[in-house]
Amino acid sequence: MPKFLIEGNAKLSGEIEVKGAKNAALKIIPATLLSKEKININNLPDIEDVNRSLELLKDLGGFLKHSKNSCEIQAEKITKNELNPEIANKLRASIMFVGPLLARLGEVKFPHPGGCVIGAGTRPIDLFLEGYGAMGAEIKWKDGFYHIKAKRLKGCAYFFTTVSVTGTESLMMTAVLASGTTILKNCAMEPEIGALADFLNGCGAKIKGAGTPTIMIEGVKELKGGTFNIIPDRIEAGTFAIMAAATRSKLKITKCNPGHLEILLSMFKKQGIGFSSGEDWLEIKPAKVIKSYSIKTHEYPGFPTDLQSPYTVLMTQAAGSSLIHETIYDRRLLFTDMLTQMGADIIMCDPHRVVVNGPTKLAGRKLTSPDLRAGIAIIIAAFVAEGKTEVDNIYQIDRGYENIDTRLSSLGAKIKRIE
Ligand code: EPZ
Repeated sequence: MPKFLIEGNAKLSGEIEVKGAKNAALKIIPATLLSKEKININNLPDIEDVNRSLELLKDLGGFLKHSKNSCEIQAEKITKNELNPEIANKLRASIMFVGPLLARLGEVKFPHPGGCVIGAGTRPIDLFLEGYGAMGAEIKWKDGFYHIKAKRLKGCAYFFTTVSVTGTESLMMTAVLASGTTILKNCAMEPEIGALADFLNGCGAKIKGAGTPTIMIEGVKELKGGTFNIIPDRIEAGTFAIMAAATRSKLKITKCNPGHLEILLSMFKKQGIGFSSGEDWLEIKPAKVIKSYSIKTHEYPGFPTDLQSPYTVLMTQAAGSSLIHETIYDRRLLFTDMLTQMGADIIMCDPHRVVVNGPTKLAGRKLTSPDLRAGIAIIIAAFVAEGKTEVDNIYQIDRGYENIDTRLSSLGAKIKRIE
């Protein structure tokens, strides 16, 4: 099993370039199936989840020319209506192919999406199924697969009883070729949703309101092709900012969008962590004392659950107590057990709340990465700790962070990949 060997007491310096947003790419790739024309995607992150998504697209008959950070796609004809379970089981976002297949073929067969250990049970998809049903689809579950059929998708009004990022994105893209108008309410507002709408509108869709709680989609006959640049990954940028703060390093983060990180930067101000920023860069300055500050994760523009794990590590180095309240997922705080093994002073109040007391000295350990965000958080903890840390199951980290060991080594970190 490949693993990372990491030296503690890391001091980082220099500049790191942020890659394209994983959670934008994983929706835009399936959305290309809605068009029969050629589509070019640039600033694509070179990560495992994107590789799986492109494998799924190819398996469905899409033409693909993929170089490291860009790809050319053309789904002129789709040769099958079933998601390959081998690939779908590794990728929660495989469900993003369901809507476009329904719209193009009127039929799709797929297993319950796998690939992510966090979240209630096996991450529910009830909102997706209700939405497809509201558009006139018929849904059956047989021998471990969902079978969905829809002669013609029709526009509908749908209210999300839980705010769901991929739920919003799936119904938005599914409605693009439906007949009539669809109104989605209580939608998620993450920047990746706006990016997906920009992509689809760039290909001729008629979507209004993406990024607000109400999205209106007017069905069109077909989509054209086009060229699209993936927006910067705000979670990567936020992770590097927290990494710099935790290791007391001066670090410049480039090709990012500080406008997507207002909540984190507002927290940094309260904590005495200095920074300066420009249109597409952010520079973190080391702070002598980091004040502890409680957070409660919340849908965008609130504190992103994907930054909760790195932030929890930062709080082990902050002076005082902080309450970390993870409202979105029910397993995302379990990784704090590993921080406790490293010497952190963390009390688990319940599956959604921990109290972190700091600052505490951390010691290197042998650890396993449970999911990608906890994985990168462990790397930050390993940089802060005394001594060596070994992290295995690093596929989870490679799912979401391109060449992370090479990029962090170029900042002076001592992190080695052992195949
Ligand atoms: C997206 O997951 C992201 N993944 C997640 O990032 C992110 O943590 C999450 O949004 C929240 O911001 C991608 O975009 C590929 P949700 P998603 O549907 O859409 C419940 C990462 O690390 N729910 O917004 O799957 C669900 O159980 C990943 O990059 C239903 O109940 O999350 C959760 O409690 C991890 N029924 C809540 O909604 C449904 O049908 C929010 O989940 C769907 C979701």
